[in-house]
Amino acid sequence: MSVIEISHLSFAYEKQIILEDINLVIEERDFLAIIGPNGGGKSTLLKLILGINTFKDGEISILSQKPSTNLGQVGYVPQNTNINVDFPIKVIEVVLMGHNGGKRPLWGYGKDEMMCAMGVLEQVGMSDKAHTKIGSLSGGQRQRVMIARALCANPQILILDEPTSSIDTSGQKEIYQLLKRLNRDITIIVVSHDISVILEYATRVAHINKRLSYHDISNKKHTFHTHDKKEHFCEVELLEMLGSDNCKECKDMDCQWSDIKWSSIK
Ligand SMILES: Nc1ncnc2c1ncn2[C@@H]1O[C@H](COP(=O)(O)OP(=O)(O)OP(=O)(O)O)[C@@H](O)[C@H]1O
Ligand SMILES: [Mg+2]
Repeated sequence: MSVIEISHLSFAYEKQIILEDINLVIEERDFLAIIGPNGGGKSTLLKLILGINTFKDGEISILSQKPSTNLGQVGYVPQNTNINVDFPIKVIEVVLMGHNGGKRPLWGYGKDEMMCAMGVLEQVGMSDKAHTKIGSLSGGQRQRVMIARALCANPQILILDEPTSSIDTSGQKEIYQLLKRLNRDITIIVVSHDISVILEYATRVAHINKRLSYHDISNKKHTFHTHDKKEHFCEVELLEMLGSDNCKECKDMDCQWSDIKWSSIK
């Protein structure tokens, strides 16, 4: 079953065209990685799905309905979470904000909401920090709290915009392992520049640079290799490879890149 369908979507800020004729079908329990250069339109696409930006050309449906009907089914962790870490607020309070769009209710939170917040903190491995000030957590821990906040409304789809951009390698891995666990039950869409990491976890990859191309890599990801046997994939290398149907650089006849027919990335 598809959870998000986008067809012939185009979008411009003022007169600058940012996205052109985007077509994408995201299936239930996909782990979709969205990659592409800075300014390519990745965050803009997410904001269109989430109804933060409005569009005139094309269509988006979430769970077969217009986006506004089913936005409650979508959890979102934005690119730069604008939480003021100097503000003396506890982890549990940050998570509880997920219930009501960031506003603290005057009447306080009920028992059910507290139990739910503790449950999602447990899920992300942060329940022992529930009463710690958010400002005293590491970047990786804070990001797990932001994921817990997005999970508070029990969404079917979780969208994350560069969740590991300022986190060290081990913190990144923990976040992706967490997303992999969550992916047993929910669909994950993650914008990332961590190509080498994301290829381990994603089942599909979409590349966005004004236009979109995507591919199912679920059967191929174990066969990716780097040409000079380095462990790390650099985005530039990857994008160079994606730019051609065949992996011209590589003389290795078993190179799996040559099996991947990416539609043109222009
Ligand atoms: N509110 C806005 N008003 C006008 N132009 C904008 C606005 N937000 C983004 N843009 C422009 O739209 C283009 C795409 O931006 P977007 O944030 O979607 O890129 P991105 O792929 O997410 O990049 P990054 O990898 O740097 O996060 C950029 O040229 C950016 O300058
Ligand atoms: Mg962005």
